[in-house]
Amino acid sequence: MLSPLTIQPGKRCIVAGRTGSGKTTLAHAIVKNSPGVWIALDTKRDPFFKRFKKHLPELEMPSKIFRWWRPHQKIIVVKGSSDANANDEWIEELFLSYENVGLWIDELYMVTPPAMQGQGLSRWLTQGRSLKDSFIGLTQRPAWVSRFCFSEADEVIGFNLTLDDDRKRMVDMTGNAAYRKTLNPHVFVRTNQTTGESRMEMLKV
Ligand SMILES: Nc1ncnc2c1ncn2[C@@H]1O[C@H](COP(=O)(O)OP(=O)(O)OP(=O)(O)O)[C@@H](O)[C@H]1O
Ligand SMILES: [Mg+2]
Repeated sequence: MLSPLTIQPGKRCIVAGRTGSGKTTLAHAIVKNSPGVWIALDTKRDPFFKRFKKHLPELEMPSKIFRWWRPHQKIIVVKGSSDANANDEWIEELFLSYENVGLWIDELYMVTPPAMQGQGLSRWLTQGRSLKDSFIGLTQRPAWVSRFCFSEADEVIGFNLTLDDDRKRMVDMTGNAAYRKTLNPHVFVRTNQTTGESRMEMLKV
């Protein structure tokens, strides 16, 4: 059975969908229900993140982040850069600075475009496993994101995608033909990458 929508320590999830499909809304719901403290890298300067009181400056040094943290604060938002290498270096620094935290990347292609498999994200997604670092990465354009993100994911979630190359990438990476179809707004398909199980769900706000 697919578990409820949470990310357990050490687990990784990728969410893809066209703009406005509900990725950020869903990621927020998942993170709120998942154990631990989460750091969100807001690479797109999404207005959604304005609601968070603590919205730290661009690539605030990871070693300083927890100075801003207050007990009961679940999510700390850091502004991302438009430079993928700078974002990836920051992720590596974050990986080296803390254990057992969650990382939420809102727009993966700003961190790992197709030809780039940065060391920071690679370490987070591979070596982090034993350290219980959790991960959720979102993208409008799965075809523009390095493939290793999908192969390292425990769960892939897809909303509607309109472009053929994006749909094809989702089918290729998950083996799930459901991503070829047009989905209704705010409906998503979850695929468990270990068992291949899949389920369609409706996002409620
Ligand atoms: N189930 C839903 N029913 C109604 N409105 C929804 C639902 N899910 C999301 N929305 C609304 O749709 C809008 C876009 O959602 P959201 O920002 O989560 O999309 P997104 O996929 O992250 O888009 P982008 O790629 O542009 O960042 C928001 O205003 C959100 O409140
Ligand atoms: Mg969004």
